Amino acid sequence: MNFPAVPSPAATPLIVGIGGSTRPRSSGELALRYCLSRAEQAGAHTELLSAQDLQLPMYEPAPKTTDPRAARLVDLVARADALIIASPAYHAGISGLVKNALDHLEELRTATPPYLDGKAIGCITTSQGAQGGALTLSALRSVVHALRGWPTPLGVVIDTSAEPFGLDGEPAQEATRSQLGIMTDQVLSVIQQRVNQQRVVIEQRSVPTPTNVPGGAL
Ligand SMILES: Cc1cc2nc3c(=O)[nH]c(=O)nc-3n(C[C@H](O)[C@H](O)[C@H](O)COP(=O)(O)O)c2cc1C
Repeated sequence: MNFPAVPSPAATPLIVGIGGSTRPRSSGELALRYCLSRAEQAGAHTELLSAQDLQLPMYEPAPKTTDPRAARLVDLVARADALIIASPAYHAGISGLVKNALDHLEELRTATPPYLDGKAIGCITTSQGAQGGALTLSALRSVVHALRGWPTPLGVVIDTSAEPFGLDGEPAQEATRSQLGIMTDQVLSVIQQRVNQQRVVIEQRSVPTPTNVPGGAL
C-alpha cells in the first residue's frame, strides 16, 4: 500500500509501536518490530517505544507528570495516526508495565482529539498458552475502547511455548507472519480510509457556492 500525498500536515502517517517486555528477545517486541517494518515498507513513518522506554513512574492523576519518558510517550501518541500495542499475558492480564503506560495517556484527556479518538489500534498479546493470551487480548481491547481507540478487527495472540521468532527476529511460523501482516494491513487501511475521507471533505469545501461564483450572488 503506498500513501499518496495527503492534504494535511501529517503527509506521512505515523504509526507508534508500544510494549513488549524487558525480557531479552521479548516476543512482543519482536512482533512490534515486524509490524513496524512492514508499515515502513508501505510508506509510513514509525516509532517504537519498547519496554526499556516504558519504565515510567506509576501514573498519578495529579500532579501532572514531568517524567521525560512519559512526556515522550504522550507526545508520540498524540501525534500518531495509529498505534500497535503488544502486551505479554501476566496472570491472564496486561502486564503492569504496559497498563501503566496506557494509564499515562490520561494526560490526553483534554487533547484535540482526546485520548486515542479516531486512531486505529492493532493489539498483540504474547503468552505461554492460548487461554492467557485470549483473555489478555480481550482486556487490552477493552482498555483501548475505554481510551476511545478503534481496535482493528484482527487482534493477534502469539503462543510463545513454541519459539515464534527465529534468530533473525523474523516470525518463524507462517501463521504468525500472516496474522501480524493482516493486522498491520488493517491498521494501514484505516489510515488510508481517513486520508480519503479528508480528501472528500476538502474537495467538497472547494466546490463553488452561489456566493463565490462570479455573478452568482443573490
Ligand atoms: C509474571 C508472569 C506471569 C505470566 N502469566 C501468564 C499467564 O497467565 N498465562 C500465560 O499463558 N502465560 C503467562 N506468562 C508467560 C508469558 O506471557 C510469556 O512468557 C510471554 O511470552 C511473555 O512475553 P515476552 O516474550 O514479550 O516477554 C507469564 C509470565 C510471567 C513472567
